[in-house]
Amino acid sequence: MDATALESEARTAIAAAESEDALAELRVRYLGRKSPLKLALREVRDRATGMALNAAREAIEDAFAQRESALAAAGSQDLEPFDVTLPGERVPRGRLHLITQIRREIEDVFLGLGYGVFDGPDVDTVFNNFTALNTPEAHPSRDAQDTFYLDDDTVLRTHTSTGQIRAMLEREPPLYLVSLGRTYRRDTPDATHTPIFHQVECLAVDKGIRLSDLRGTVEVFFRALFGEEREVRMRTSFFPFTEPSVEFDVTCFLCGGEGCNVCKHSGWIEMGGAGMVDPAVFEAVGYDPEQWSGFAFGFGIERIAMLRHGFPDLRLLWENDLRFSRQF
Ligand code: PHE
Repeated sequence: MDATALESEARTAIAAAESEDALAELRVRYLGRKSPLKLALREVRDRATGMALNAAREAIEDAFAQRESALAAAGSQDLEPFDVTLPGERVPRGRLHLITQIRREIEDVFLGLGYGVFDGPDVDTVFNNFTALNTPEAHPSRDAQDTFYLDDDTVLRTHTSTGQIRAMLEREPPLYLVSLGRTYRRDTPDATHTPIFHQVECLAVDKGIRLSDLRGTVEVFFRALFGEEREVRMRTSFFPFTEPSVEFDVTCFLCGGEGCNVCKHSGWIEMGGAGMVDPAVFEAVGYDPEQWSGFAFGFGIERIAMLRHGFPDLRLLWENDLRFSRQF
């Protein structure tokens, strides 16, 4: 067969093709399995013929590729002309998750009070999470049923109180800081529990810190978050790392203390644990308990969000339903 003649015939036909379909047909005719060229290639017995036929095949493939891109380019020019000065499509703007918003708001309140922000890791030692916090070996919170252990000495922190220990081991008093972040407990999810949640920890260590300082600080904090009319109340409680220990309630933001569904008709809403730093904790981090005193508290951020906005189930914070998230 005459490879040169075939090549020029194919080139002419390809150059004249006006559509993708026409090109596809020509491809079958000139390069298909049963095309004269492919059949001839199969019969080749000598090197010279083989080279000539392959050169023709390559040339034809090139011609196809060229025509294909020429048709594509021409096609895109066929698009209707449009006005480039028209306004573009609006890109929907995202926003910060409610927990992040509240987290930053809390940080701002404490920065305003002269506190620093201290970040601790989510994965921490059993020492920082329990032992240095004066938690006895047999305390139920250490149980593997309640705590995620990575190995015998390592946990996903069960509270942000680990930040107290880390900060005191790193720094010398006086100390005024908040530590906010994720915490983990082996809780079954329900309306008021998720295995991952957030806390805000506060620690103040100085000379002559008293329970009234704790109370005043919490009052400023709650008023900033829930409104100026809020009252706070302390109830006695117990934590291994504070003595005395208290729990804080705030007057219900919804009924103002009258009693309603949100506060279970008591007029008060529980906010979380606090107390004066136990001398045993100061000893564990090498501070002299005769010289220094301090207070600490740890409150749940989901709880604050839920109470402030009055939504009934904190799993909503995890479901990523935009109808919920967009409200904040
Ligand atoms: N860490 C305690 C908790 O998670 C709260 C707390 C913090 C209590 C600081 C006292 C002092 O329940």
